[in-house]
Amino acid sequence: MRIVVLTGAGISAESGVPTFRDAGGLWEGHRVEDVATPEAFARDPRTVQRFYDARRHAASLAEPNPAHDALARLEDALGDDLLIVTQNVDELHERAGSSRVVHMHGRLASALCQACGARVPVPADLAGDPACPVCGERALRPDIVWFGEMPYELDRIDLALASCDLFVAIGTSGAVYPAAGFVRTATEFGASTLELNLAGSEVSPLFDEVRVGPASVVVPAWVDEVLGR
Ligand code: OAD
Repeated sequence: MRIVVLTGAGISAESGVPTFRDAGGLWEGHRVEDVATPEAFARDPRTVQRFYDARRHAASLAEPNPAHDALARLEDALGDDLLIVTQNVDELHERAGSSRVVHMHGRLASALCQACGARVPVPADLAGDPACPVCGERALRPDIVWFGEMPYELDRIDLALASCDLFVAIGTSGAVYPAAGFVRTATEFGASTLELNLAGSEVSPLFDEVRVGPASVVVPAWVDEVLGR
């Protein structure tokens, strides 16, 4: 069985990484237009760099939770038949042991050089304007997809959605496209669809099945079911 799993901030919530749209979420304390757009970066790069430096430090302290662990177990069993597409910019899937992970909104651990185009591990806090280790220019920005920019690896994701048997969305509000549209694509290509979320989302009615509960409980339970345990 080929499975595509889409994850959002909800899967990392129990690891202590704040979500965006829930009470106390990141977008409650910040205006998206001030920190997550190319225009904000052009206007006030320091503020934007500091915002992502702070998120990188916070994410580095977080540990994977049983939901990340369960998806890593699923990959052990399914291998190439499982693809995780995450909107999350933390590394918790990888730290739990998953290796087939597409970071469609980028990664906090990576910097993108605006001078030479290289993607490099963040060498130091970006607010300090460190030099690009490849070309030496001081032109590094967070390797994060901002509003108005194109998410990464959409061709690979579309191919996976078109050939999967099951599409599962975990802990995502369905508020941001194109990810919110993946359930439609998967359905059009004949896949079954399952949503796992703490509460109903904006796109719940589009799924064949919805299971409500915290990711640390519902994800391991679903994985055990798939593995016949
Ligand atoms: P949101 O903050 O929009 O939604 C989080 C979802 O997780 C909600 O549907 C919650 O019900 C659910 N949730 C919260 N705690 C949970 C738990 N313990 N177990 C299961 N589910 C839980 O986050 P995303 O959908 O990831 O984009 O947001 C999508 C994108 O919008 C992000 O990647 C980011 C943001 O703006 C960019 O920065 C480009």
